Amino acid sequence: MENCAVWLRKKIAFAGLFVCAAVLATGFAASGQTADQAWLKYRGHGDRWIIPLKVRALGKGSLETSAAQELQRGITSLSNASVLWRGSAFQGETIVGTVEEVRQAFPDLPVPHDLKPEGYWLYWIGSAGDLNNSAATTRLIVAGADDRGVLYGAFALLRQIAAGPALYGVNVKQAPAMPIRWVDQWDNPDGTITRGYGGRSIFFEGGNVRADLTQVSEYARLLASVGINGCDINNVNAAPELLDAEHLKQIARVADAMRPWGVRLALSVALASPEKLGGLKTADPLDPAVKAWWATKADEIYKLIPDFAGFTVKADSEGEVGPSNYGRSPADAANLLAAALVPHGGVVLYRAFVYNNHLDWRDPKADRARAAYDIFHPLDGKFLPNVIVQTKEGPIDFQTREPVSPLFAGLRETSQAMELQVTQEYLGQQKHLVYIAPMWKQVLDFDLRADGGSTPVKETVEGRSFKRPLGGMVGVACLGREWLGSPMAMANLYAFGRLAWNPDLTPEQIADEWIRQTIGIDPVVVSTVEKMLMQSWPTYEHYTGFLGSQTLTDITGSHYGPNIEASERNGWGQWHFDDGKGIGMDRTVATGTGYVGQYSPEVARIYESLDSTPDTLLLFFHHVPYTYKLHSGETVIQYVYDVHYKGAEEAAGLGKEWATLKGRVDAALYDDVRARLEYQAGHAIVWRDAIVQYFLKQSGIPDDKERAGHTPGRLEAEDAKLTGYTVIDVTPWEDASGGKAVSCADAKGCTAEWTWDGAAGRFDIAVEYFDLQGGAARFVIDVNGKETARWTADGTFPSRRPHGDNSTRLTVRGVELKPGDVLRVDGTPDGSDAAALDYVEVTASAH
Ligand code: GCU
Repeated sequence: MENCAVWLRKKIAFAGLFVCAAVLATGFAASGQTADQAWLKYRGHGDRWIIPLKVRALGKGSLETSAAQELQRGITSLSNASVLWRGSAFQGETIVGTVEEVRQAFPDLPVPHDLKPEGYWLYWIGSAGDLNNSAATTRLIVAGADDRGVLYGAFALLRQIAAGPALYGVNVKQAPAMPIRWVDQWDNPDGTITRGYGGRSIFFEGGNVRADLTQVSEYARLLASVGINGCDINNVNAAPELLDAEHLKQIARVADAMRPWGVRLALSVALASPEKLGGLKTADPLDPAVKAWWATKADEIYKLIPDFAGFTVKADSEGEVGPSNYGRSPADAANLLAAALVPHGGVVLYRAFVYNNHLDWRDPKADRARAAYDIFHPLDGKFLPNVIVQTKEGPIDFQTREPVSPLFAGLRETSQAMELQVTQEYLGQQKHLVYIAPMWKQVLDFDLRADGGSTPVKETVEGRSFKRPLGGMVGVACLGREWLGSPMAMANLYAFGRLAWNPDLTPEQIADEWIRQTIGIDPVVVSTVEKMLMQSWPTYEHYTGFLGSQTLTDITGSHYGPNIEASERNGWGQWHFDDGKGIGMDRTVATGTGYVGQYSPEVARIYESLDSTPDTLLLFFHHVPYTYKLHSGETVIQYVYDVHYKGAEEAAGLGKEWATLKGRVDAALYDDVRARLEYQAGHAIVWRDAIVQYFLKQSGIPDDKERAGHTPGRLEAEDAKLTGYTVIDVTPWEDASGGKAVSCADAKGCTAEWTWDGAAGRFDIAVEYFDLQGGAARFVIDVNGKETARWTADGTFPSRRPHGDNSTRLTVRGVELKPGDVLRVDGTPDGSDAAALDYVEVTASAH
């Protein structure tokens, strides 16, 4: 692995001293990751933990063997680092088995009779006094309700050791809250991953399944460690060829790799497959030949993969063929597939992400948010029992904040799964630190008040609210060969699994567990990282999507940098309707699209009225003037200014928090995260400035605190003395300071020069440049001809043209300047990277 220290030496040099200034590459590691590089590290931490060192499995099943091996591996690794363990007289065994096996081997033990499927029981036989008695026969029992339960019990035990409490006397019984706990991968046969930010697919390459599936086993091991029991391995925009005979044989190898970890394989399927692959004239769900085709296909799959979990379906959505092409309903389509799977015990996860992406934005009643409920609620009761409707957590699409989807209370006779995104598509794409568990937790706890009673979302997906047998949670993970591409982002995968197992856990508890296993148990480290994680989602929201306006990004493109108007005046329906006077979408029953009416009366009452709508969702539900006063008493426009300056400061604060951990955490991890947070702090400024200057222009209302529109110390590139550089308009205009930048077409390089006319002193100089794809431009900054820093812009960002996706900040700290000094940036283009430059900004230095 190339760590940051090596990386920075290659990339950035500041006049003799090296500084890791920005993370510009996607990967945390250059090569494939293992589960130990995530949270399964099993590092010893002192002498506090006592566990019998020898592990014995009572049965011979493959999952039980995995459980015993994992325990042995974990215990050995932990005990190697523990002085007490090595020196202790303490003997005994850790025994793993199913409840039946344990009952048979130890008839006197109080083995529970009521363990739910996949549950486990951890039980300590003996007393603390045995610890110093070499003759004592202390045993620790890990009993599972079934094979999977044994495995989950083993991982729970290892987690408990990492978390800290003493094990003697342990007597814990647990079972998962819901049966469906899956991750979805949006991998494509060519090896790319749609919305994946951690490298190429671990499953596919060049149209086929990869020869080496070691990482697949490691992934499954990670998933099992947090209780995930299913993995759909291909993009929901499914490639039909994956269902052909040759590919299915290959895919069976993937199932084999995941099976020892209890992770069942599922596939996304295209409804059009009988036509596209089978050569039939139609894919009509009610056509007998189509039914027969799917039944035969299911038989073929189960011959190769006897524990195949089922199909995920995206239909009538974003260009995918669906039942509407044949005049049929989603229930017809879901039941077609479900019928084929019934004989084999498989399930269909039919996605409620069905909407028209050619909406008329001029129609005041048009509303994408309404689609899932409008389409699926009338079908309740029409699905076969092995169909589960899979609904995104909010009515739009994984935005930085949305209300909860009303559909969770809109299906009473249908099993439901909640889909959420582990991959940070709209949440900074793993380049920004965003711990999503607090958002998921709010969704899970949200009480939809169906029929006036308590119906929190978690209980609807557990199947408890409406007594459905098959509920669950599906996390769109999109993990690649570099896992999620960022070490801190792995907290989200961990949190997803833990919440699917037990939605009553708090985000803090989960963060605590993850930090102890991944980063360390030093209390300062645990509390600092936990604080950073808990602050990260609100911070991201503060600079990317205020008051429920959703993520103000390029929604028809990268979904990364700011592009406020990308949502407007098109058919995609993510409008926020800002005009000169106000902003927000009226979704009320009284005067708007009526979306609010999809909630139960108690919830609808809250959102229908401006007074009771929480500020965080104000613009999702209402159109208000910029001068409208929030509950805080601030006007909307002043809030826009305030929250963006606050958000950018908070982003910088994350880096400062992390800096306090220098020397307390692994050095390579420290450097890596530090560089990422520095990049994030710079990109938060890009976001802040884009939104603030856009709404200043739109509203014409100045910032009370005189920050918006004022950029002291900023020297615009377009105002510089330019040699070779030409001035360009940036699109969207708000993504560059003043809407303009400079770009270099001369292969030999260009320069921009400013004369400093401020006071003398010590300054930080930030250079805002565009790190474009298709080349690695080089930059040098000098003062009076003396080089201060040089760097190469070879990061991985969306796009070959300058805008907010790739606008990047590099800061040189502690530079002496006096009036008349000449500041110069030299940019040398490379390929299609035109060494474009936005500005330099000079601020008083604390260094
Ligand atoms: C988002 C995402 C798409 C994806 C879609 C889905 O719109 O950007 O890439 O296909 O969600 O959930 O189907």
